[in-house]
Amino acid sequence: MRRLRSSEALRDLVRETRLDPKDFILPLFTCPGEGVRRPINSMPGHAQLSVDKLVEECAEARSLGIGGVILFGIPETKDETASGAYADDGIVQQAVRALKREVPKLLVMTDVCNCEYTSHGHCGLVADGDVQNDCTLEWLAKTSVSHARAGADLVAPSDMMDGRVAAIRKALDAAGFLNTPIVSYAAKYASVFYGPFREAAESTPQFGDRRSYQMDPANAREAIREIELDIEEGADMIMVKPAMPYLDIIREARERFPLPLGAYQVSGEFSSLMAAIQNGWLDRDRTILETLTAIRRAGADFMLTYFAKDAARLLS
Ligand code: PBG
Repeated sequence: MRRLRSSEALRDLVRETRLDPKDFILPLFTCPGEGVRRPINSMPGHAQLSVDKLVEECAEARSLGIGGVILFGIPETKDETASGAYADDGIVQQAVRALKREVPKLLVMTDVCNCEYTSHGHCGLVADGDVQNDCTLEWLAKTSVSHARAGADLVAPSDMMDGRVAAIRKALDAAGFLNTPIVSYAAKYASVFYGPFREAAESTPQFGDRRSYQMDPANAREAIREIELDIEEGADMIMVKPAMPYLDIIREARERFPLPLGAYQVSGEFSSLMAAIQNGWLDRDRTILETLTAIRRAGADFMLTYFAKDAARLLS
């Protein structure tokens, strides 16, 4: 076996998995104000950005050849009904409009969820101590339409309510957005690895947790059912999240379903790797490339990663 590993040129020739900046989607957090770049403590190098700063960041992402961005919003105020999520002048809607004006060729995906917009931090309408499914679908549908109206290229529901893809597809079609694809966070686990994101997006649930809607990390067959349902309901692309602890799910989804498949290397994956990098325990560049290569090798077509800019630079 060592014969084919004897030189860089040979290793290059027989390499089975390659990375391309076009495979990366950069997650970004946008907040009200002007000239704001508020660093996120737990995610070194990342910040909440006001729309003007977001535009600068996205222009840079575009110049690095990154495939696209996914937007999360931090609204001015939160309430019981997540009204900031579907307001026509909501923070994400404003950001999308600005991006489509200033960096029109960059692919803009929007995360569709309510947890950043509810006062209690849950992903939907809370009654009787739990998130109510079907009323939440209405919010998600309205949010998706408002994102599409602002110019979003794709909408990505991450709430894990049952039936959301069908509800969103119906609403988009009715509003004339027949060509806006839905990227479903189809298999999203109730993971400890979202911790740093909740600081970044200010979306920590004020009581309880998300285990009545996100998946149990112990379950693999259930992920297949989730994905099948989302495809039946009209998902155009599917996603597995988190990525590295769930490579088996990515592999299985790849083998079973022909749809474009994404994987989300989430905040806790990024932050724990960064902590080791900053301590000098892991080499930065090799960590970035090896983890993303592993996710791709498992079968992901595209990767949402907080390392998108660094990885793109390493590949150029
Ligand atoms: C919204 C949402 C979350 C993430 C993406 N969309 C947080 C959550 O479910 O608690 C996590 C992303 C990350 O950790 O990087 N529901």
